[in-house]
Amino acid sequence: MRLAVLKERRPVETRVAATPETVKKLLALGITAVAVEAGAGLASGFTDAAYAGAGAEIAPDAAAALAGAAIVLKVRAPLAADEGGLDELSLIPRGALLLGVLETVGSPGRAKAYAEAGIEAASLELLPRITRAQSMDILSSQANLAGYRAVLEGAVAFDKGFPMLMTAAGTIPAANVFVMGAGVAGLQAIATARRLGGRVSATDVRPAAKEEIKSLGASFVGYEDEESKAAQTAGGYAKQLSADFYARQAEVVAAHIGKQDVVVTTALVQGRRAPTLLTAAMVGSMKAGSVVVDIAADAGGNCALTVPGEAIVTGNGVTILGYRNWPGRIPGAASALYARNLLTFLTTFWDKDAKAPMLPEDDDIVRGVMLTRGGAVVHPLLTQAA
Ligand code: NAI
Repeated sequence: MRLAVLKERRPVETRVAATPETVKKLLALGITAVAVEAGAGLASGFTDAAYAGAGAEIAPDAAAALAGAAIVLKVRAPLAADEGGLDELSLIPRGALLLGVLETVGSPGRAKAYAEAGIEAASLELLPRITRAQSMDILSSQANLAGYRAVLEGAVAFDKGFPMLMTAAGTIPAANVFVMGAGVAGLQAIATARRLGGRVSATDVRPAAKEEIKSLGASFVGYEDEESKAAQTAGGYAKQLSADFYARQAEVVAAHIGKQDVVVTTALVQGRRAPTLLTAAMVGSMKAGSVVVDIAADAGGNCALTVPGEAIVTGNGVTILGYRNWPGRIPGAASALYARNLLTFLTTFWDKDAKAPMLPEDDDIVRGVMLTRGGAVVHPLLTQAA
């Protein structure tokens, strides 16, 4: 049983799917060899020597790492022939279990390619949000760090300070920080902004989020009605709401936004483009020197002026940070947590006697993540869409 860890080749990806700590634990499970592609951890601060010290074989390239691998750990989907660069997919042995954030729901062709290649692919971002899955929940571990990092970058880009500063030369008031979307990333953003001394308010559409916002010492600003009382799905996510609701929500936000110094937007609706919560007119009402940090940039952004992947300054002097891959901006911690999430997945489904993963088809978690089995696409989100 060999396991391969590849260097991530997609743009803006700094993370790695295993760390020296998880390599040691994978070997302790009974995996015969862990092959780590040379340089795989460098962008996250893990050297080849550290992996070798943990017992990994350092493979000179992806082909050598993948030769004979029964398990492949990735952050992002392996590159395919039509994507330019190295065709990673063709190097994965038939029958191998592939774990990663494979993002196949938007591109069903990808799952079909895995099935044709005989790869057993599991897409961890599809993990059901049940208590048993919490320690393998990559969305939560990564969103938490994204929320933290976004506030720090917002604080640096802001031309004043976060805390109230009383000096002999006079007083600088505390920054007003507004967090839009109070899920995992947003709650961490609230906590981080509070720790820095900001005066924090936040909004969300799910009723449960209102209490969580208040429990972190932030004030709730938002529109609520009968529709928003049922805004949460059974899985804990926000539902897509009516145009009328969004219009009323926008009125409340518009009245609040002009007084804000730093706005952190984190709102997502599963499987859709991120909702536009900040219009150009709202940004136009903000003061010069204020900052919008758009964590939702990868999903199109919550701010109408966000340019995904870039930092821009608007005509009225507002900085908009629309970087992609926010967890990748804190790669050491993000890789450490991501790697532990994958390790927990493997440990949970590890058959000690066979020294191999056993993935029961009737298990909620397995059913939630498996895209392909035995050469066929099996995930309901893909088979129903077909
Ligand atoms: P997410 O990343 O899909 O969305 C982020 C936030 O944006 C959510 O709080 C959502 O309600 C909010 N949002 C969507 N549309 C909005 C709008 N128009 N205006 C303002 N906010 C809007 O969600 P995330 O952070 O991944 O998780 C949401 C919730 O799921 C968590 O707060 C938690 O309750 C639950 N959860 C449960 C877990 C479990 O194992 N039981 C694990 C992780 C999360």
